[in-house]
Amino acid sequence: MDKIVVRGNGPLNGKISISGAKNACLTLMPATLLSEEPLTLTNAPRLSDIRTMTTLLRSLGAEVQTMQEGKVIAMSSHDADNHVADYDIVRKMRASNLVLGPLLARHGHAVVSLPGGCSIGARPMDIHVSALEAMGAEIELKDGYLHAKTSGGLKGADITLRFASVGATENTVMAATLAKGTTVLRNAAREPEIVDLVECLRKMGAEIEGEGTDTITIQGVDRLHGATHPVVADRIETGTYMLAPAIAGGEVELIGGRIDLLGAFCEKLDACGIDVTETPTGLIVRRRNGRVNAVNVVTEIFPGFPTDLQAQMMAVMCTAEGVSVLEERIFENRFMHAPELIRMGAHIDVHGGTATVTGVDKLKGAQVMATDLRASVSLILAALGAEGETVVNRVYHLDRGYERVEDKLSAVGAHIERVSEDE
Ligand code: EPZ
Repeated sequence: MDKIVVRGNGPLNGKISISGAKNACLTLMPATLLSEEPLTLTNAPRLSDIRTMTTLLRSLGAEVQTMQEGKVIAMSSHDADNHVADYDIVRKMRASNLVLGPLLARHGHAVVSLPGGCSIGARPMDIHVSALEAMGAEIELKDGYLHAKTSGGLKGADITLRFASVGATENTVMAATLAKGTTVLRNAAREPEIVDLVECLRKMGAEIEGEGTDTITIQGVDRLHGATHPVVADRIETGTYMLAPAIAGGEVELIGGRIDLLGAFCEKLDACGIDVTETPTGLIVRRRNGRVNAVNVVTEIFPGFPTDLQAQMMAVMCTAEGVSVLEERIFENRFMHAPELIRMGAHIDVHGGTATVTGVDKLKGAQVMATDLRASVSLILAALGAEGETVVNRVYHLDRGYERVEDKLSAVGAHIERVSEDE
């Protein structure tokens, strides 16, 4: 298992290029199942989660070719005839459940393993199931698999999600593109990755409006054609690297970063003393003074503060001036980074979904353990400003969602290297 070794090395300076969004690419790829014609994605990120989705689509009979070292993904599901998404693949990545809606819409049946829980929570699929049942799907759970079928095809429906689930919104929108009639999806998620998916589906001939609001209307069509679509910039990667100079000091330009994708996150940065300036090529970020101010954070659905940036913000608050309270409202167990930060000298009290962080002057390097994707990158951020050496173990979590993190941070002066360990 690889490790990443970081030594606090003072202020950062330089440019980091932002990759395509993992969470957009993971919903854009299953969209190929909706059409017999080729769908090509450009600006795709090179990540292990994308490779897992590639394996899944190939297991369903789709052709998936990657070019330009993975930045271009050319897919065709013309001959895709398998509709069973196997547990062995789905258990590795929850986003595999995004083939459910497209398989149902295209083939009229699907067998998709329940993803099972992961470290951040139980992550059930009840909202996906009730939305698809409202469109006429018959879905039953058997041996850990969702067995879904429609007799006569999906029908448009007026659906209200009990919670604005990102994945349930994506599955339902994709299914509705080929349903008979009109679907109105209320309390829909508004994340930029959903806007990106709809823009791609529209290029494929789908008739959709309202993306980015809480009500999306989809007029079903008989078939979708092929398209080429660039994956939107990754707002979570952008937010993550915006916090690097917040911890280590200096000034970093994020090429391709887009402030319009960051909702309430940028307001928080301003409150804690981080300046963000838009440039023609991206964003310049620098810490206003020697130390950031403590701020309170509540994670919410978009455009609120993203849950996927909570761990990274906690790392910044560990050496902020004052006390900050972080409330995690989206997942039931997303503070696993706290005990690891405490090993580095942070003062954090966790009670249920609330973490209270009392800023200290400096953290100290230590051996720490990555537990999930965003927790692992928060440890790297903390290490950038810590005294001495930090060794982050189990970095396979990191490689799921961050492309070449050691290269991108070294390029701005961080002392960071990957150490490949024998098993
Ligand atoms: C997406 O997951 C993202 N993943 C997550 O990013 C992100 O944290 C999450 O949205 C929230 O923004 C991808 O896009 C691939 P949800 P998703 O359905 O769709 C509960 C990362 O680090 N829920 O909006 O699975 C669920 O348990 C990952 O990149 C139900 O109860 O998130 C959770 O508590 C982590 N029943 C909450 O809703 C359901 O049927 C939000 O889940 C579905 C969800």
